[in-house]
Amino acid sequence: MVDMSMTLTRFIMERQELHSEATGEFSMLLAQIGMAAKMVSNQIRRAGLVDILGVTGDTNVQGETVKKLDEYANNVFLDVMEYSKLVCEIVSEEIEGVARLSRSCKGRKYSLLVDPLDGSSNIDINGAVGTIFSIHHRHDETLDLIPDEDLLQKGSEQVAAGYVMYGPSTILVYTTGEGVHGFTLDPGVGEFVLSHENIQMPAQGKTYAINIGNRSQWHHSIRQYVDYLCEADPESERPYSLRYVGALVADFHRILLEGGIYMYPGDREKSDGKLRLLYECAPLAMLAEQAGGNASSGTESILEIQPTDIHQRSPLFIGSREDVSLAEKFIREETR
Ligand code: AHG
Ligand code: MN
Ligand code: MN
Repeated sequence: MVDMSMTLTRFIMERQELHSEATGEFSMLLAQIGMAAKMVSNQIRRAGLVDILGVTGDTNVQGETVKKLDEYANNVFLDVMEYSKLVCEIVSEEIEGVARLSRSCKGRKYSLLVDPLDGSSNIDINGAVGTIFSIHHRHDETLDLIPDEDLLQKGSEQVAAGYVMYGPSTILVYTTGEGVHGFTLDPGVGEFVLSHENIQMPAQGKTYAINIGNRSQWHHSIRQYVDYLCEADPESERPYSLRYVGALVADFHRILLEGGIYMYPGDREKSDGKLRLLYECAPLAMLAEQAGGNASSGTESILEIQPTDIHQRSPLFIGSREDVSLAEKFIREETR
């Protein structure tokens, strides 16, 4: 039974009380992310009704066409962060360089890395979309401006990470390194309510997610691994079922709750795959590991990759511990 009084804000405040050194700024930051998520959610629910569907005609820094809701969500996160005066630097999928919200950031402790609208190709078909976020410590909070390199932190340094899924319900899932917790938006009262406390991923799942249309470009090991998952062997509960939404947040949400593996491998055409390390792979990797799962580039832990560019991509294999480790084994055997 869901305790309707355990809202996101109350949960964050109660957790904060366990940390005597906490100033409350971090709790406020998480609450502000919840606020931005509610605004984006509200707009998405109205998307079919207002003239917001369709593309803006611009392309983002990745060379992809920007949908109007991408732009809207990006602006919401920038505006909410600007008013809150809690973060200084923002890395967003929609912005080429590091966005700096103020010239005088002395004392601000955090930076935000965000994919404001993930899975945007689903917008026009009323499919699920999401937001992914990651929070870093500014290495030197006494500085007004920190160098761009400060944003190039390994995933293992993240202070917090999470996502919002705008599906049949809007759900916000986050971790601060003390478990993974999910909150469902009650649209009647406009509050996120604790619905999934301490999520644990099964050690092995029954589903896999990959864009099989890229098969002709895959390396041999990926074909072999996917063929293995499709073989019938009741003892190891194969074949696995294929589930692919085409929005990373929605695909990952299934795997977080039910186990299995999501893959966006590098291939012959795109050696690093498609997904961005800092605001797609790393935050989901922190959630996966906190829930007892794993995340790998195929050859190394996502959380241990040293980024060299804010928009860099990485292959991603994420999900149940045993499924990810078997994928890594197939990859190791090909490269041996
Ligand atoms: P975004 O909409 O933020 O650009 O992300 C799209 C990503 C991700 O959500 C999804 O898993 C992946 O693109 C799907 O890619 P394919 O269409 O190549 O399968
Ligand atoms: Mn995305
Ligand atoms: Mn996006």
